[in-house]
Amino acid sequence: MEAGTRPYGNNLGAASTIYPKYLPRSGTVVSLAEKINECFYRSLNGDIIDTTSKEMRALVAYTTWLGKDFHKDPKLKGSRGIDAPHFIDRAADPAKGEKTYDELCARCHGKDGKGQFTEDVLKDITKQQGGIATADDLYYYPPLWGDKSYNAIATLYRVGKLAGFIKHNMPYPLTYKNSVLTDEQAWDIAAYINSRERPEKDHSKDYSINISKKPYDFPFAPYADSYSQQQHKFGPFTDMPSAMKAH
Ligand code: HEC
Repeated sequence: MEAGTRPYGNNLGAASTIYPKYLPRSGTVVSLAEKINECFYRSLNGDIIDTTSKEMRALVAYTTWLGKDFHKDPKLKGSRGIDAPHFIDRAADPAKGEKTYDELCARCHGKDGKGQFTEDVLKDITKQQGGIATADDLYYYPPLWGDKSYNAIATLYRVGKLAGFIKHNMPYPLTYKNSVLTDEQAWDIAAYINSRERPEKDHSKDYSINISKKPYDFPFAPYADSYSQQQHKFGPFTDMPSAMKAH
């Protein structure tokens, strides 16, 4: 999203000022390069790269450079991760979300959630590069579910994070300044998208050191409280103390 500079859009402004950081999910201190690798492995459903490689050093340098303004104004709006919309007082509803998705999102991301890429560009690049380009390189509307989408250990698989991203950034190219979705629509669409199939990865060690640190919308049991996995996945969150505290 504008190369990491869009407020409330996966903004990277604060990242270099936060890492290295202790992450309760892994129970370890994680460097900025290791965090970027987590994004490759988890959010992008890919593989990690060598943290000393030219590419990783370039990404760390770029992210650190983006952080230069943050030091001047540590309250820089929307410069940290994704904020969930206001809670609604019922569970997010995939059936309602499907209707709004079909109206507002399907024209780009597809009714089947598969996204879109251009066959022509694919053919051209494949020819130029001697056959190494794949459709994955060329999505201009990313898939939101299915085997090419973000996986089930990605942050977007948490309904509050996905709802927040959608509310402040979609339908493209709207931003937090002119967003059109109500909070209800954002929660319901997020529940619809996150009720579809996507790649699985092992999450058995996440928060195993301390399950009480699991975010309220972490979609996998066990939990430190007695709320069900279904309620942690889609709400309602208004009667859940861990959710109200996080908001
Ligand atoms: C006009 C086309 C268009 C429409 C309509 C649209 N999107 Fe998008 N969407 C995009 C583009 C382009 C991106 C990639 C933006 C980027 O990374 O810079 C994107 C990215 C996303 C992502 C991030 C996916 C990922 O893996 O990073 C999500 C989630 C998403 N859109 C959801 C939605 C939802 C929900 C709606 C309907 C409310 C919607 N989009 C409507 C074009 C569209």
